[in-house]
Amino acid sequence: MVGTVRQDPGTGGVDGGVGVTALLVAAARALETHRDDSLARDEYAEHFVRAASASAGWPVRMQQVPDGDANPLWGRFARYFGLRTRVLDDFLLRSVRAGARQVVLFGAGLDSRAYRLDWPEGCVLFELDREGVLGFKHEVLGGLSALPRARRVPVPVDLGGDWAGALTEAGFDATAPTAWLAEGLLFYLPPAAETALIGTVDRLSTGGSALAFEVKLEPDLLEYRDSPLYVATREQIGIDLLDLFDRRERPDSAGNLAGRGWSTSVRTPFDFSRSHGRGPLPEQNDALAGNRWVFADKPAL
Ligand SMILES: C[S@@+](CC[C@H](N)C(=O)[O-])C[C@H]1O[C@@H](n2cnc3c(N)ncnc32)[C@H](O)[C@@H]1O
Repeated sequence: MVGTVRQDPGTGGVDGGVGVTALLVAAARALETHRDDSLARDEYAEHFVRAASASAGWPVRMQQVPDGDANPLWGRFARYFGLRTRVLDDFLLRSVRAGARQVVLFGAGLDSRAYRLDWPEGCVLFELDREGVLGFKHEVLGGLSALPRARRVPVPVDLGGDWAGALTEAGFDATAPTAWLAEGLLFYLPPAAETALIGTVDRLSTGGSALAFEVKLEPDLLEYRDSPLYVATREQIGIDLLDLFDRRERPDSAGNLAGRGWSTSVRTPFDFSRSHGRGPLPEQNDALAGNRWVFADKPAL
């Protein structure tokens, strides 16, 4: 067993606290990139993993995982992130092809979509995360001389607080349709912050905007404490996800949006594993059992 990842010292970087989860997803994307049947390719992901002291020794190729796909962390969980990346890539590309030119990524972490995806002319991506995470990302991408394929605007904020002012100051235009994404974020926030975020998205969205987000519906997450996925994540890389999640009762954000006139569709990741022919499927004592991906559209005026 490795030592536990240290608690966040307050800088909000990637080496501790919730910031380290951005590295976990980057490592999963690096592994996915090099699979023969990859669902999403991210050539930047392994550079983030190698650059941070918390993750420098993690695998970035399946050949570096002795038990391969049988490993609950680098096999099934990493594949989950690969699938999620692909499904949400598709959501964003669908939204911009339908006319949105603004994209807001909540808890963007080490998401390199601004550099990877084929954005139409005139798109702007706002990346909201903590200052330390965005700073690390900037350093690594700068070292690679990477060029974004759309205008990219990092917005350092605490998403548990009031972020709308910073987004507006960064140039966000509430009169234009927006594609919003909260991928792997909401369960780290206090319930009231999630409710506020959803309400603010509604307030800042004109007709034709779309939002995708991920939630966990398990009433008691601690019931899954000994699941293979949480145990492997704790023991192999020292991340206790259950300590990082805000485990208080979650709001019904999909219902909240439906009540505000949005059309919503709530899907399980397993739906997409089946349609793509690869990805995680349900199992006993499954830490992914309550995960849902919600897609919401605000009707055009
Ligand atoms: C699991 S990572 C997901 C990153 C990215 N969306 C992806 O899927 O690759 C969660 C991200 O949320 C960010 N985050 C969590 N709580 C936050 C907060 N209160 N304010 C800003 N960012 C936060 C973390 O810094 C981290 O980058």
